[in-house]
Order: sequence, then C-alpha cells, then structure tokens
Amino acid sequence: MNLYRERSLIIFIIIVFCGTLISAQNLTPKIIGGFNVSTIDDFKHQVSLRDASHESSTFGSGHICGGSLINYDTVLTAAHCVHDGDRYLSPAYYMAVMGNLDLFVRDSNTVVRRVIKVIGHRKYDPDSFINDIALLKLNAPVPKDHPTAQPIRLSKTEARPGINCQSSGWGSIQYEENARAVRGLMAVNITINSKYDCNRRESHAGSVIRGQFCAGPFSGGKDTCQGDSGGPFACNGVLVGITSHGYECGLPNYPGIYMDVGYYRDWIAAANSAISSLSNLIVLIAILLILSIF
Ligand SMILES: *[C@@H]1O[C@H](CO)[C@@H](O)[C@H](O)[C@H]1NC(C)=O
Ligand SMILES: *[C@@H]1O[C@H](CO)[C@@H](O)[C@H](O)[C@H]1NC(C)=O
Repeated sequence: MNLYRERSLIIFIIIVFCGTLISAQNLTPKIIGGFNVSTIDDFKHQVSLRDASHESSTFGSGHICGGSLINYDTVLTAAHCVHDGDRYLSPAYYMAVMGNLDLFVRDSNTVVRRVIKVIGHRKYDPDSFINDIALLKLNAPVPKDHPTAQPIRLSKTEARPGINCQSSGWGSIQYEENARAVRGLMAVNITINSKYDCNRRESHAGSVIRGQFCAGPFSGGKDTCQGDSGGPFACNGVLVGITSHGYECGLPNYPGIYMDVGYYRDWIAAANSAISSLSNLIVLIAILLILSIF
C-alpha cells in the first residue's frame, strides 16, 4: 500500500488506530526535497515517538511520529499521533527515543524513555486537525548534561511569514518486518507562508485556521510527509511549529500544515503545569504514606 501515491485528497497523517498497523513498504526518506542531517547539533530536540509493542522486534521499527523535547521530561507532539480518531490512547503504547540521527542505532547516546502521561488537547478534532497538539510526560528526565539530547526553546510569538526554518524527521512509518535499513534523520529548509497565500482557492482554500500555518514553496517539492508528523519545525533554534498534516506530500500548491507553537503557548504552559502538579501530587501521597508508616 503506497499511501503517498493515492491521488485522492487523503490527508497523509498517520493515525494509530488502536494499534492497527498501517504498513508502508517504502523506506525512501519521506522528508521531501530535504537533506541528510550530518550532525545532531541543531537537532538535539528531535524525538522519535514509537509504538512500544513494535520495538521489541527491531529497535526503530516502531517509529510512528516525530516529537520535540521541550523539557527534560516532556515531549511536544501532534494530537493525531496519540489519538485513535475517537480518544487518546494509553501512554503505555508509547516510547520516546532521542539522541541519535539513526533511527535504528542504540548506543551510549541513545535515550529511551517510556511515556507515562498523555495530555492531548481536549478540543482536538480528527476531521479538521484543529488543536492537533499533545504533550507527553516521560518516565524519567533526560540527563541535563546529555551530549546529544536537549530540549528546545518554544516560540513566544505566533509564526511570522517569511522566516526560514527547518522541519525534520525520519518520515516513514517503520512497521515493516525487516526494517533494518540505515535511516538517518532528514531535514528540509522551508519558509513560512502568509495565511492569505495558504488559504487561496487553488491552495488550502480556507482550511488553514488560527493556530496553524503552512510552510514550504507553492511550487512543491519541499515538504514533510508521513511519519514526520508531530515533529519539530524550528527557526533559528526556536520551536515554532509542530508538523501536522497536508495533502499528500510536496505537491504544488499544497504546502504542509503545522501547528503554531506560539499560538498554543498558554495551552502548553497549562498542560505542563498539569503534568508537574500531577507528579507533585504523587510525591505528596508518597510522603504521606511514608509518614503514616512511622
Ligand atoms: C541521504 O543518505 C542516504 C544514505 O546514505 C543516501 O542514499 C541518500 O541519497 C542521501 N540523500 C540526500 C538527499 O542526500
Ligand atoms: C538549511 O538552513 C541551514 C540554516 O540556515 C543552513 O545552514 C543550511 O546550509 C541549509 N541547507 C540547505 C540544504 O539549504
């Protein structure tokens, strides 16, 4: 099944329907028109979000989405990566992997974490991709002095047209039985377009709403694609977007659509504090339990 070649206006995002596997045969890089990232320096925030049950066979084979490390124990991704179209899935499904350019390598730099909490936007709509944003809490923080995995700063302002940015990812769902190919991180340099241009009739025709932007040339050829979803869209070392969806990939007139991190900064802050108050509560309960024993 080659989803990218379907001519219908099927949105390319990958949804994990309760662990139902969508298999992609195609291992070619799915960042369209991009380049192989040669050093991790600018991509230490890049996360590979994986289906934990699929990781047992081959390390890297469970890759489903990208993500960005935004705190030592928090990953920002797209809601559709952790939602089955009906509800958010259990955190137990997911694993977050960081620290390496190669999806399949596990070495001393590789950070592997379980996801212990999924906080997805309550008003995420799978049909329109409105509010396609989610926060994941990891079971343990990444060490602060880790050489190749570090959080990225969030944009405080909404995305502005004309800025040059980079979108990155491994860009394929790695559900193949024998997915052992070397898979290096890819990135593409693209520019944020004005909402007016995104929403022209011959382009996205009004479907790029508040909280979203489109980026990439209208001539096509440079884009994110399947499996890049949830991943970072960074401009000068600041996270400005989350890869969300599009019509196929790299098609003329259809630049990819991203969630605007600056627009969602209050939601992100609230979700963040919900996560930390949760862990504070757990600590408090633990302390009370210990005190009651003595
Ligand atoms: C990226 O690297 C792979 C494997 O080394 C190579 O096959 C591919 O042509 C490279 N792609 C680009 C765009 O440089
Ligand atoms: C992409 O942008 C980065 C940062 O501006 C620059 O260093 C790099 O040379 C660009 N790469 C390509 C292939 O355009």
